[in-house]
Amino acid sequence: MSTNITFHPGSVDSEERVSLTGQRGVTIWLTGLSASGKSTIACALEQHLLHLHKYVYRLDGDNIRFGLNKDLGFDEKSRNENIRRISEVSKLFTDSSCITVTAFISPYRADRNLARELHQTASLPFLEVFVDAPLSVVEERDPKGLYKKARAGEIKGTWNFTGISAPYEPPENAEIHIKTHETDVEGSVRIITEYLAKNGFV
Ligand code: PPS
Repeated sequence: MSTNITFHPGSVDSEERVSLTGQRGVTIWLTGLSASGKSTIACALEQHLLHLHKYVYRLDGDNIRFGLNKDLGFDEKSRNENIRRISEVSKLFTDSSCITVTAFISPYRADRNLARELHQTASLPFLEVFVDAPLSVVEERDPKGLYKKARAGEIKGTWNFTGISAPYEPPENAEIHIKTHETDVEGSVRIITEYLAKNGFV
């Protein structure tokens, strides 16, 4: 942590921002195995909410690793740092009244809890969405051929692959649980949108 820094508060508080922009921000945190459907649902949800004229933005694991987090790999420490940075970024987006949709494997419960705590401390809403599909199903989908590579031992060392040689800790208290082997993309978007509507976010 740097020294000699002072937090500079703005002159608009969050309630005033909500009333002036007409929108309350919320972070919708999608977590799940690779190929569980996080990115697909995040894209469809973003499109759906934009068409409702909502201010919404999507942060996606693969994409963020091309820029902001291009210095990070897939060892445990790098994944922790990946999620810490995205927790902070999503907090900023949500504070700006944005509906922020994040799609990261975020395999460690402690990291997701940190994301939740950061939001709670700032009185910002945070919804965890478990995008769930059994390993056998995601391995069968394998759109990027990564499970095949991992099984063949081609992804190893500090690049251990989630679900095969690196852990995935499923959420215990997610606000929303979607089983993508039973629900299609449209249905998944509907489940999330209904939750948002019921809780006054849209
Ligand atoms: S994490 O665990 O939250 O830090 O991962 P994330 O930033 O979401 O990045 C996941 C995407 O990176 C690709 N990829 C890997 N995933 C898991 N383990 C290893 N070793 C790995 N190497 C590359 C993969 O395309 C993931 O994308 P999704 O959309 O989840 O399939």
